[in-house]
Amino acid sequence: MSGLHIENLSMRFDLPDGGHVQALQDVSLDLKAGELLSVLGPSGCGKTTLLNIVAGFLAPTAGQMTLNGHRITGPDAERGMVFQQGALFEWMSVRDNVSFGPRMAGRKAKDYRSEVDHLLNVVGLQDFKEKMVYELSGGMQQRVALARCLANDPDVILMDEPLGALDALTREKMQSLVLKLWQETGKTIILITHSVEEALLLGERLIVMAPRPGRIHKEYNLPFAAMGVDADLREVKKHPDFATRREEILNMIWDMEAEIMGTTGPAA
Ligand SMILES: Nc1ncnc2c1ncn2[C@@H]1O[C@H](COP(=O)(O)OP(=O)(O)O)[C@@H](O)[C@H]1O
Ligand SMILES: [Mg+2]
Repeated sequence: MSGLHIENLSMRFDLPDGGHVQALQDVSLDLKAGELLSVLGPSGCGKTTLLNIVAGFLAPTAGQMTLNGHRITGPDAERGMVFQQGALFEWMSVRDNVSFGPRMAGRKAKDYRSEVDHLLNVVGLQDFKEKMVYELSGGMQQRVALARCLANDPDVILMDEPLGALDALTREKMQSLVLKLWQETGKTIILITHSVEEALLLGERLIVMAPRPGRIHKEYNLPFAAMGVDADLREVKKHPDFATRREEILNMIWDMEAEIMGTTGPAA
């Protein structure tokens, strides 16, 4: 049984004041190997919690997950995480960051060196291998983070707002890179984002989550990621269906936010 199967996952956090937060309730999801899922939803709807549970960093209060037929019970190199920022080893060179996983796995430098070089080429860092991480721009650092994750050859890549800290132009380039990596590596990817456009562009499937309790509200199958593999993302955005979906989902999230804030429309 290949792929990622998530069954009735719930997560309840007990708070020091005796209250609790139902961060997730009965979340079920099946992902085939190689699928690219984007996850959208207002703040607090449990996106990060879901990713942390799939990564094995958190144990759910109910439910279970399997990857390729075996149960997920904790962190493992088969599931790699790319964070928004700040998770690199600043004092190491680009090459050493990307080599970290293979080195920790006990492999010899001569065995992984060419793989690491290849990955650095794929993410466009061929001229920056010996630079220190702190010398790089935010976009470059996220390229390192992607390459470092891929160097462990995970089956599933989990990304929590990986492009959220980047400026608009860099972000657009990185969105194309994510699609390129998806196509070239065939990895299963779950990508959390705050941006409706990004979720539409990158999600072959897209789920919109709702808060209180965190749950899956709506799911879409979308053509735009497949289009974006070969086309300029700006052209993809011009597709009439893109604008329609964007409006629909923006309204959906707007309504949820309004409900959370206890208002029915934009503040005057
Ligand atoms: N360790 C924790 N302890 C208590 N509450 C938490 C903890 N982690 C997350 N939460 C709560 O669970 C809910 C979902 O959080 P999170 O998964 O971070 O949402 P998102 O990533 O969608 O913004 C929020 O209400 C948040 O405050
Ligand atoms: Mg989050």
